[in-house]
Amino acid sequence: MDLLKLLNEMTVDEKLAQMTQLVPQIITDKGEGVITGPMRNFGITKKETSSVGTLLGASGAKQIKDLQDFHLSEDPHKIPLLFMADVIHGYRTLYPVPLGLGASFDVDLAEKCCAMAAKEASVGGIHVTFAPMIDLVRDARWGRCMETTGEDPYLNSKMSAAMVKGFQGDFSKDKIAACVKHFAAYGACDGGRDYDAVEMGDHTLREYYLPAYKAAVDAGVELVMTSFNTLNGIPSSANKYLVDDILRKEWGFDGIVISDFNAFYEMISHGICEDEKDCAKKALDATSDIEMMSTCFVKYGKELLEEGAITEKQLDDAVLRILRLKEKLGLFDNPYRAADEEAEKKIHLCAEHRELAREAAEKSAVLLKNDGVLPFDKNVKKVAIIGPVADHGMIGGWYCCGKSSEAISVIAGVKNAVPNAEIVFARGCSAHPNEKAEEVADLIDEAISLAKDADAVILCLGEEIDMSGEAHSRARISVSDSQTELIKRVCEVNKKTAVVFYCGRPLALEKIDDVSPATVIFWHPGTEGGNALANLLFGNVNFQAKLPMTFPREGQSPYYYNHLRTGRPNTNSGYCLGYSDTPYKPVYPFGYGLSYTSFDISAPVLSRTEMATDESITVTVNVKNVGNCSGIETVQLYIQDVTASVARPVKELKGYQKVCLAPGESATVSFDITIEELKFHTFCGKYDAEKGKFKVFVGNHSDIETFETFELK
Ligand code: NOJ
Repeated sequence: MDLLKLLNEMTVDEKLAQMTQLVPQIITDKGEGVITGPMRNFGITKKETSSVGTLLGASGAKQIKDLQDFHLSEDPHKIPLLFMADVIHGYRTLYPVPLGLGASFDVDLAEKCCAMAAKEASVGGIHVTFAPMIDLVRDARWGRCMETTGEDPYLNSKMSAAMVKGFQGDFSKDKIAACVKHFAAYGACDGGRDYDAVEMGDHTLREYYLPAYKAAVDAGVELVMTSFNTLNGIPSSANKYLVDDILRKEWGFDGIVISDFNAFYEMISHGICEDEKDCAKKALDATSDIEMMSTCFVKYGKELLEEGAITEKQLDDAVLRILRLKEKLGLFDNPYRAADEEAEKKIHLCAEHRELAREAAEKSAVLLKNDGVLPFDKNVKKVAIIGPVADHGMIGGWYCCGKSSEAISVIAGVKNAVPNAEIVFARGCSAHPNEKAEEVADLIDEAISLAKDADAVILCLGEEIDMSGEAHSRARISVSDSQTELIKRVCEVNKKTAVVFYCGRPLALEKIDDVSPATVIFWHPGTEGGNALANLLFGNVNFQAKLPMTFPREGQSPYYYNHLRTGRPNTNSGYCLGYSDTPYKPVYPFGYGLSYTSFDISAPVLSRTEMATDESITVTVNVKNVGNCSGIETVQLYIQDVTASVARPVKELKGYQKVCLAPGESATVSFDITIEELKFHTFCGKYDAEKGKFKVFVGNHSDIETFETFELK
């Protein structure tokens, strides 16, 4: 296809429509899929919508083919529509929410899951997913923790690249284009309140928040979505520094920049634009290409052009980027691409996909505590399953085309794992965070009566899937009063209890940590959650995941392991870092997670204690499985730059390796440290390493205290 010729044949109005994204019902009066954001009447005409370039929220081969046919019958140049959707943790078969994938510390798994999602989405007619969302988050109160892979720039970057690779791969028909979001620093909103402002110096932005977006760009991501928030007073949609200077010029990104839902229009509310015309001008000047669900471009682009406030070259650059992606996806040759009702029937929820979803849920579950109650004996006679989230599939907030009814509940999973056991169920309480114990006294009593004589009790608590996600920030992250009381009462009558938390964010667990004999964080696990949990609790598979975010105490958020050093480090007394009403340390640190076996990790041995800038150091540890069953340990390497031109974090993750060991077996694990691992954004604005001492820590969580040192000469 000669794209330049096509571009030259398009009118200005058609170009502006090409740069607009709407939901199907606006152009056809037909229904829409799962989207988030306000709907309003744009007052645009049929003529304007007939050339629209992209749609969001449609799904399913039939609907998408119909929409494509309808559009092609109207569009004067027969330019196919691009269909985009939020395929965040699966399309029909759902795997754990991204925070759970983060906990797996397994990039191959993340890549495979995204490839599976791409395959299901592509036959469902989707061309682009609004994923990966890779916003670094330090505040557990933010609702969207569940959509990210956590608080660490290294882990997030690895996950970001793997997810882009999984979705896009070689661009064959069972792949879709990825859109990394939300550029930039959306997860750093004030107070953990979704949509709130972000004020952040360049150092923090570049050092922690930008790397994961950059990793997606380096992995060849096709689109970038700008975020709702202001960054230092400028909404991302109009942020030339972010989009034009950093993303396009510094990183060389030449793909599509799309706004978030209605975000251009919301610049009026931000107090940055006077009206929609001003929004269009500012967004275009920041080199935005697609306007999602507002109509500033179509309504005012032409007027701006006639007034000379924008140039046709600006429009042409944007339209060409959109047409190029359509061509790369093969839409000019086959506007349906992979959309196929028969393939949907075969591929969606197929055994292979369910298997992967189960494996992912198993590998994302974090065991935080085990006083020896787990794994449960498979010969149990009676299992009491208690809790508000035990009897339905916990598929996660971005369930796309998945259904809770197609997912495995805990009750169903346990029946599969121990088919001869009697299974009893009581709700016990709700998941509402403000529920008081006295409001559900009868339900708690009923649960106690079932728990008393059970051989195993599984308490399924935490958050329903709609309690985290967009616009679901929480001021308090503690386990509710009713759930805390239920845990206490059940554990009083039966110590053979596992407390399993379903959540889309870290919860403050200090009130239950002493009471619970065994604690599991299961996030929102997806289609195969129930089977995965039963496999873990009854010992068919072992736990291996690690926390991708610190689990703080109530009131400590934001709390993150890689915080800067201070002049007065915490010493638990006097005038030092900390609180006067709660301990300084979180309940569980980043990187923490147990297994049914245990591992000894020796002190790190360094291949040299001095290193020139062109040399490397090998750090070696010996890892031994000192327990009774096989298991996988994630060995983590952290460093600390002891003296630098700017304060450096107490620790930074620089590598990790998974090692699988049989009981009594040992392995040597080594990491190479080169100058790359030591670089940071220096006081002079360079990205470089500075000479001096470094500490090296190796362990199985971020709170490890023993270290060795070396010097960069
Ligand atoms: C708003 C959300 O912020 C974004 O992540 C999502 O992709 C869009 N809505 C479209 O649903």
